[in-house]
Amino acid sequence: MSDFRKKLIAGNWKMNVLPSQAEHLVNEILNGASNADCDILFIPPYTHLHSLRSLIQNQGSVFIGAQNCHQENSGAFTGEISPEMLKDLNVDFVVLGHSERRQYFGENDKLINQKIKSALAQNLKVIYCCGESESEREAGKHKDLIEMQIAAAFSGISEKELSQIVIAYEPVWAIGTGKTASPEQAEDMHNFIRVLLSNMYSETAGNKLRILYGGSVKGSNASDLLSRPGIDGALVGGASLKADEFCKIINAAK
Ligand code: PGA
Repeated sequence: MSDFRKKLIAGNWKMNVLPSQAEHLVNEILNGASNADCDILFIPPYTHLHSLRSLIQNQGSVFIGAQNCHQENSGAFTGEISPEMLKDLNVDFVVLGHSERRQYFGENDKLINQKIKSALAQNLKVIYCCGESESEREAGKHKDLIEMQIAAAFSGISEKELSQIVIAYEPVWAIGTGKTASPEQAEDMHNFIRVLLSNMYSETAGNKLRILYGGSVKGSNASDLLSRPGIDGALVGGASLKADEFCKIINAAK
């Protein structure tokens, strides 16, 4: 029997939406999702965190996250934002290991591991992203790759710390491409990840772990994906920028 895991629908805005438009978008979404039966997480650019934090106060199931952070808490790192700064803004979550950070900014699992540790030390919750490329899947290497990514990223992370981490499985070939993993492919990988984490930590830890699917999730495919027992929510990019689409996804999560 798996422990109860409340579904989490997270909207990663990436480098989109102007600060002056952010409150309007959030209000539209919250109005359209007033009967939501899941946790909702907004992940805007850094520049929007302060105003959205003030907007979303004391709303039990609505959270704010950042898209990245540096591994140090302060210092001469021009242009960077530290986990301590995010905590000081009362940010709840930080996304680490997103494939765009890996691809365009050269982040590897060793660095991501340092970032995870620094974020957890500030009591931030972490959304850790992993996923294989199209060629890795075609070569049948997708599970090996995920196992390697997770082993490296979770090195030195305790079971207690794991309880503050959500994993997002995002096949790189499905991100922003309109191609979605089938519910069967996603469920198969989610089950693989859960068993992996159960073996690394404990069955209880594996059962408690929330595993999100990400990659071209939209209103029309959300129910199919979210009705699978191993899929505990979604990390949504493009469709999180349109209030009606994002609300459809939120309302599909029960
Ligand atoms: P997408 O992005 O929904 O636009 O495919 C998902 C993500 O990058 O988290």
